[in-house]
Amino acid sequence: MKSRLLLAILVLALPLVGAVTVRALSPAAARQAILDHFAAEARKTDPGFKGFSAAAGKAFFLAHPPHSRPATPSCSYCHTTNVHNWGKTRAGKRIAPMAVSLSPQRFSRMSKVARWFFRNCRSVYGRVCTPVEKGNFITYMMSQ
Ligand code: HEC
Repeated sequence: MKSRLLLAILVLALPLVGAVTVRALSPAAARQAILDHFAAEARKTDPGFKGFSAAAGKAFFLAHPPHSRPATPSCSYCHTTNVHNWGKTRAGKRIAPMAVSLSPQRFSRMSKVARWFFRNCRSVYGRVCTPVEKGNFITYMMSQ
């Protein structure tokens, strides 16, 4: 009986412990873990993968790919070509700068990162982005 009660308390408390641990991770550490994840993904398809490139991330960010939707011709269309600027959605809502120096919380929550890469890559590139593209993009924003 007593042990059952203890078990119930443990089961109820576990998610709390998990939440605290996740929150305890600093944004920088969480961002690094996300970058490490993309690097591991990149190595799966390219064993010779040498690391991410901020320059490639910048080119990817500024590009106007041929398969973009007319309303979203590039990443910089909403985020602006200067990553230190505030951006704007098509509906006019303001978007905080992508540069990590100005927005230290950027790219530190996997669910958010995954959701927006999925959505924005589809609109601008007409496909999902590769792990290398995602890693390059984040690396560029971390250098800014
Ligand atoms: C139609 C406007 C629009 C376009 C085009 C766009 N984005 Fe975004 N993006 C947003 C909005 C809105 C958010 C969410 C608001 C925020 O994070 O401040 C966002 C957030 C993100 C995030 C999440 C950032 C974080 O803090 O975790 C990533 C990653 C991202 N965008 C990447 C891209 C990439 C890569 C492209 C080009 C392939 C792109 N975006 C193009 C509007 C856009």
